[in-house]
Amino acid sequence: MNEIVLPLPDDFHAHLRQGEPMRGYVKDLVKEFGRAIVMPNTVPPMTSAKAIADYKQQILEAARETAPNFEPLMTFKLNPNYTEQDLKDMMAVGVVAGKYYPAGVTTNSQDGVSDFESVFPVIAMMERLGLVLCVHGEEPGAFCLERESKFIARVECLAQKFPKLKIVFEHLSTAAAVEAVKRLSANVAATITVHHLMMTLDDIVGDALRPHHFCKPLPKLPTDRMALREAAFSGNPKFFLGTDSAPHAKEKKECCCGAAGVYSAPVALPILVQEFERGNALDKLADFVGSFGADFYGIPRTTKTMKLVKEPWTVPENVNGVVPLAAGQILDWKISEV
Ligand code: NCD
Ligand code: ZN
Repeated sequence: MNEIVLPLPDDFHAHLRQGEPMRGYVKDLVKEFGRAIVMPNTVPPMTSAKAIADYKQQILEAARETAPNFEPLMTFKLNPNYTEQDLKDMMAVGVVAGKYYPAGVTTNSQDGVSDFESVFPVIAMMERLGLVLCVHGEEPGAFCLERESKFIARVECLAQKFPKLKIVFEHLSTAAAVEAVKRLSANVAATITVHHLMMTLDDIVGDALRPHHFCKPLPKLPTDRMALREAAFSGNPKFFLGTDSAPHAKEKKECCCGAAGVYSAPVALPILVQEFERGNALDKLADFVGSFGADFYGIPRTTKTMKLVKEPWTVPENVNGVVPLAAGQILDWKISEV
């Protein structure tokens, strides 16, 4: 097979940052995606309808030239202080989900949730209003390889306490979380990133320290990666693509206290085709990138398409000041320019 036509993918987890760098990151993203859930861990964070409306405008403006139909799906950062009116105001400007960051577990999450039960009243309002809850599932203070598995009980608790709430367990990295998502009710789904399908901890610290692979949650054991691949390749609608593409300037990664995040937007689809091909699951890719997430979020499936062709190309070493995933490597599949 030398070409593949897919639905124009949705990215159900992307970081676009703000200011001038955002313009470049948006341009990279819209080459591969028609819609994206835009994460709210900006500085300052997205916590009001006004800020989110402005941010959405800036994103649309950055996309206009190359992808005038791009649709940013907006999110807010969860805290205990929202009123129902705040949530309604945010929905009116295009917010579809709220993001739960446990305090301190990842980039720009110092202001995250430190008291689990303190956000229950806001989560109850989200359930009533039909807002999706996106969860960064890592337990603060736990050993780094156990942070996700230790958080599973909280996701289970939320699923039981709020049975109508749609919960997305973001960027799964463990076999235990894959099992939990399968076991829990239909209202619990999960995103899987491109890099967690490819990497284990060996790719970060196994032979040399590779700061551009460092991200939260950490890629873990070969058995965890295998479980993620099986989930992505299975055609189970609870698992869909969220790249967690998280650009940090090269110098913020190559330093003594490097930032967490992998910049995968420039290579996401070529790598996914390659990995699904290796997993003999190319027939499952269209739903993974174009149907399951939209169905879960309750938005229409895209009617647009994208074509990739088998044509080797070398991933640039630097894209917009960021070292992308697979920098310098030759990939077999390329997005067709048509
Ligand atoms: C993300 C970022 O840089 O904003 N970093 C990461 O390692 N994934 C935040 C996040 O999603 O955890
Ligand atoms: Zn993220």
